[in-house]
Amino acid sequence: MSEKKSGKRPDGRAYNDMRPVKMQVGVLKHANGSAYVEFGKTHVYASVHGPKKVHPRHMEDGEKAILRCRYNMIPFSVNDRKRPGYDRRSVEIAKVISEALQPMVFLEEFPKSAIDIDLEITQADAGTRVAALTAASLALADAGIPMHDMVAAVAAGRANGEILLDLTKEEEDAKDAVDMPVAMAHRDNKVMLLQMDGDMSKEDLKQMLIVAKEGCSELAEMQKAALREKYKVE
Ligand code: CDP
Repeated sequence: MSEKKSGKRPDGRAYNDMRPVKMQVGVLKHANGSAYVEFGKTHVYASVHGPKKVHPRHMEDGEKAILRCRYNMIPFSVNDRKRPGYDRRSVEIAKVISEALQPMVFLEEFPKSAIDIDLEITQADAGTRVAALTAASLALADAGIPMHDMVAAVAAGRANGEILLDLTKEEEDAKDAVDMPVAMAHRDNKVMLLQMDGDMSKEDLKQMLIVAKEGCSELAEMQKAALREKYKVE
């Protein structure tokens, strides 16, 4: 664990602290699996429907299930009302989340089927893709979809010369800001997603990976606790 240096961030967090995290599974009555996740002021719902028949039929795969992901920020999730509907950003985020989760799911057990993951950002303050990915993994587990492993995700980055974990929008808006969303598998910390935005040195990258790994490990424990809470496994 890297040393905690406290009280330096606008919200009083140490550089390698997460924002307050909340997780709950089974929050939606009409989904096969669901989860709600908060990273500070970033709030997300994830639902899973399936495995089910594929519509349209031409999309089905005779060998395995298809995993479809939809990401949406609702109009009142951000400061300036967001125009409803999809844009390039939401399509990109859905794609990277889906690609991070596909290797985790035993898709070959459900040929000619679809598993749909819907992600709704109800409030955004940076880190929506990582909170959504963390919630999606929980919702898949809640739906009882067989998985090799689960995934936890958080952003590491840099602002005002400091390496940070779980940046807020205010921190992401710093002049020298670097944002690096990372997702890791629980068991072996295999990197399932890594994106980068901004200029960074090799040393910055190394430090960011260290804090991201710590953050993912913390989140993995919270994910397991949230599932135990619903299923009451001691
Ligand atoms: O949310 P995430 O960090 O995964 O993705 P981003 O594209 O780097 O967006 C960072 C933040 O910018 C979001 O979490 C929102 O707080 C904000 N944003 C916004 O205010 N309006 C948008 N249309 C898109 C993003």
